Amino acid sequence: MEWVQIDNISSFDKEDVELRGWLYNKRSSGKLHFLQVRDGSGIIQCVVFKGDVDDETFDLCHQLQQESSLIIRGTVRQDERSVLGFEVGVKEIEPIQGAEAYPISPKEHGISYLMDHRHLWLRSNRPHAILKVRHEIVRTCRNFLDELNFTLIDAPIFTPNACEGTTDLFEVDYFGDKAYLTQSGQLYVEAAAMAFGKVYCFGPTFRSEKSKTRRHLTEFWMLEPEMAYCDLQQDMDLAEELVIYIVQQVLEKCRGELEILERDTAQLERVKGPFPRISYDEAVSVLQEKGSDIKWGTDLGGDDETIISQQYDRPVLVHRYPKAVKAFYMKGDPADERLALCVDMIAPEGYGEIIGGGQREDDLETLEHKIAAEGLPREAFAWYLDLRQYGSVPHAGFGMGLERVVTWLCGLHHVRETIPFPRTMQRIYP
Ligand code: 4AD
Ligand code: MG
Repeated sequence: MEWVQIDNISSFDKEDVELRGWLYNKRSSGKLHFLQVRDGSGIIQCVVFKGDVDDETFDLCHQLQQESSLIIRGTVRQDERSVLGFEVGVKEIEPIQGAEAYPISPKEHGISYLMDHRHLWLRSNRPHAILKVRHEIVRTCRNFLDELNFTLIDAPIFTPNACEGTTDLFEVDYFGDKAYLTQSGQLYVEAAAMAFGKVYCFGPTFRSEKSKTRRHLTEFWMLEPEMAYCDLQQDMDLAEELVIYIVQQVLEKCRGELEILERDTAQLERVKGPFPRISYDEAVSVLQEKGSDIKWGTDLGGDDETIISQQYDRPVLVHRYPKAVKAFYMKGDPADERLALCVDMIAPEGYGEIIGGGQREDDLETLEHKIAAEGLPREAFAWYLDLRQYGSVPHAGFGMGLERVVTWLCGLHHVRETIPFPRTMQRIYP
């Protein structure tokens, strides 16, 4: 008998198959047991009829608790009522391990209880669907950039220098020296872009975020493309194309998952190009009109982003923020030196910033001044400054926060559900 995956069950209609999985749920009535069995790829109903199996097997079904592992052998048959369109008529059950009373029952549990049991909660329908969407997004990002001939260049996790300011750094003892967990692979992909032209890194990044918001993790994944001979305009074009492609692919490949999550997909269907592009100046005017007390020169807060996003039915690109509120590496706008050639992409429906990026300062002297002015240690950035001495060119890139995008596409309240084992200020277990 062939071992088959539940998500592929339709290819085995009327055939005898073997399933290897876990008992998700169970219902019994007289001569019948209805076992919901999951194998990681899906969930299927397996029907145990007293007349079809020996007494021992039938009695075993009485005892089997939720999440017991088992191998089932039986016949695939069509069933109109099931979501899959198929069920299995059971002939044999081989128990692997009988589970103890399972701490996660189908009844409602509080989020902190579920997060304490994250290692088990991953088996439930909803987290499973979210992480499937996450996987599809990762695959799509890589396909998208690989198709455009970008080269994947992994950036280091331990670094001697800060990329995104010194307040959120995780410091580690590195054989007696200070090192930090990376906040962004950007500085390294800038070096790689001078070697390979178009590159990206896609890895974990760390920030000791003291804010307990629903958008912040201390460990999150970022996709960071970087391109030589690229300006802000071209950078925004790439960010827009990428996001459109991700939404399309998720709508196409993750229908079932979005349904489990009860995501209103009509909102996602509207995500088509071109995305509106507004300057920081324009954003501030809109915000002030809408009653925000934002002053020109300060960064947009979470509430400001929500107001901006409510003006549109698709993501919006806000460009040219004041240099003073952005990182040291941003290139000044030649048209107005108070501004940086940077961009943030804000997701619709109040999901906040999903992308941050822009054109990089490519002039040695300007960058040296910037590093000094921010009080950053020159030695740690010596290698970065080298890039401006040996064939410096205009270049740009951006970072897309994976978990932010998953939160948005799945329509979730909190970013913590989008990563297998979330790390926040309050959580490092399990
Ligand atoms: O805007 P950020 O800080 O940009 C950078 O780090 C650049 N060096 C990237 C680059 O240009 N290569 O972060 C980029 C994105 C944000 O737009 C947001 O989506 C996400 O990373 N992000 C976080 N996601 C979850 N938790 C946090 N604490 C995050 N901080 C940023
Ligand atoms: Mg940002």
